Amino acid sequence: MPVSTWIAVAETARLQEGVPLLVKPKGIGILLIKRGAEIFAVRNKCPHMACPMEQGEVDEFELTCPCHGWVFDIRDGAFVRAPEIKVETYAAKVEGGDVLIDFDGETG
Ligand code: FES
Repeated sequence: MPVSTWIAVAETARLQEGVPLLVKPKGIGILLIKRGAEIFAVRNKCPHMACPMEQGEVDEFELTCPCHGWVFDIRDGAFVRAPEIKVETYAAKVEGGDVLIDFDGETG
């Protein structure tokens, strides 16, 4: 039987619409971003030059890295100008007032 990798990372009450919330499961920085009824989880490490992105601006489903302005689609992590470049993303869900993400501690 596969081992569940869903882990609780924050109370849903801490999330504000369109404002990245930094959490650190297993010591890895991950941003939770609420958009309407959905929550997205994105690694807090830009694939360009590894800047943290918690200060980045969110517009609809796009997150702009504050260092050099690369823009990523938070739904799949794709850099909008070259989708083959991606920031890591993780499945997220809400359960009992907590946000859970599907994260086994491994990063790419
Ligand atoms: S480090 Fe993110 S755009 Fe350069």
